[in-house]
Amino acid sequence: MDHRITICTSCRHKGKECRPGYELINKLRQAIADAGAAIPEDFQISGVACMAGCDRPCTVAYHGSKKATYLFGDIDPETDIEDLVNFAQQYAYLHDGWCSSVDRPGKLRKSTLARIPAAIVAFEDSESLAS
Ligand code: FES
Repeated sequence: MDHRITICTSCRHKGKECRPGYELINKLRQAIADAGAAIPEDFQISGVACMAGCDRPCTVAYHGSKKATYLFGDIDPETDIEDLVNFAQQYAYLHDGWCSSVDRPGKLRKSTLARIPAAIVAFEDSESLAS
């Protein structure tokens, strides 16, 4: 199964010029590599110019084929790597990617900007609603 983490490389810390997305990518790649077999799926980690969460820098998205997509905001490379790694482990085990806020690790409970169902789930729901 395809698992990806996408990090905004354009976000700036509020009131500053720095763009911490690249630091976040490097730290998260290293931390996930260090976690080794504790995370049972490979995650491709890459950057993107903007995910329209610009008021809540940095933004980080988790996606997987046939899984819900998450967009998190207010992520700081200095303090939040452990929560991101823990969520990668959790996300790898969730067959549809769906979990409620109380089940997410640490800061990710309160910094979720969006949780989008997998397209196939939305399609099945709309079919059952139509019948
Ligand atoms: S600049 Fe990062 S989400 Fe827009």
